[in-house]
Amino acid sequence: MNDNESVWEYFGENDPYFGVNTIAEMRSDNLDENALGVFFKSGEDYVARIWGEIEGNFSPDFRPKRSLDFGCGVARITLPIAKRSGEAIGVDISNGMLELARKNAAEFGIGNATFIKGDDDLSRVTGKFDLVHSFVVFQHIDPKKGEHIFKRIVEMLDEGGIGVLHVEYANTVSTTAQKLRFWAYRDLPLVYKVRSLILGKRNEPLIPMYLYDLNRLMLILQTHGCHKVQVRFSKHGVEGVVLIFKKERAELY
Ligand SMILES: C[S@@+](CC[C@H](N)C(=O)[O-])C[C@H]1O[C@@H](n2cnc3c(N)ncnc32)[C@H](O)[C@@H]1O
Repeated sequence: MNDNESVWEYFGENDPYFGVNTIAEMRSDNLDENALGVFFKSGEDYVARIWGEIEGNFSPDFRPKRSLDFGCGVARITLPIAKRSGEAIGVDISNGMLELARKNAAEFGIGNATFIKGDDDLSRVTGKFDLVHSFVVFQHIDPKKGEHIFKRIVEMLDEGGIGVLHVEYANTVSTTAQKLRFWAYRDLPLVYKVRSLILGKRNEPLIPMYLYDLNRLMLILQTHGCHKVQVRFSKHGVEGVVLIFKKERAELY
């Protein structure tokens, strides 16, 4: 098991909803019906917005036969995607998250979603997709691996299909001291262990964060036939983009 996998196995087993949204209400000890309702509604609202972007700018009446949700977590976003798709496949690196995703699909009566364990080559995911999607996931994967996964996902998109992939690319909010502290927590594990001990969260690992070089991602899109790209900015603390694109020939300028 690599480092990234063990971090997400920890959260999948101990604190899955907090792993998806790191606010106190999502801690397993605090979770109640109300917090869960807000959590799943946020996925519904997000997918409704994304569909508006897709149908308004790329493909009216978008109804994908096969959709992929990379880094699906507990299926907050996979389930509303499944409702609008022939079938949806959620991929995650954490067995705990996948188990809960299956349970949530059953509880919400969604029968066309399946959940698959991921690896760096997505080797268990087969076939082409009409929609490939990922939200708040790449920021937790070292770009040395993440760029390869990004490319694999773009390769899995069928001609005429739509991609919606989110990455973070800049941090204008943290001070130099905060950046140094985070770097020490992320790259010197002992420092973070001591901090966790002091805070009484003995085994809780750090959720790693990374920024991506948009130039490199744009080159992947251009060289894989995704010639129309729309950018929506995001800001969860640091600056990010949701890249919405279609794989199709288009006139180059
Ligand atoms: C912040 S959560 C987001 C979950 C979901 N996308 C959502 O918005 O509700 C990040 C998820 O990415 C998964 N993840 C992290 N690294 C991964 C990788 N290399 N392959 C697949 N999933 C990964 C984690 O297990 C976790 O479930």
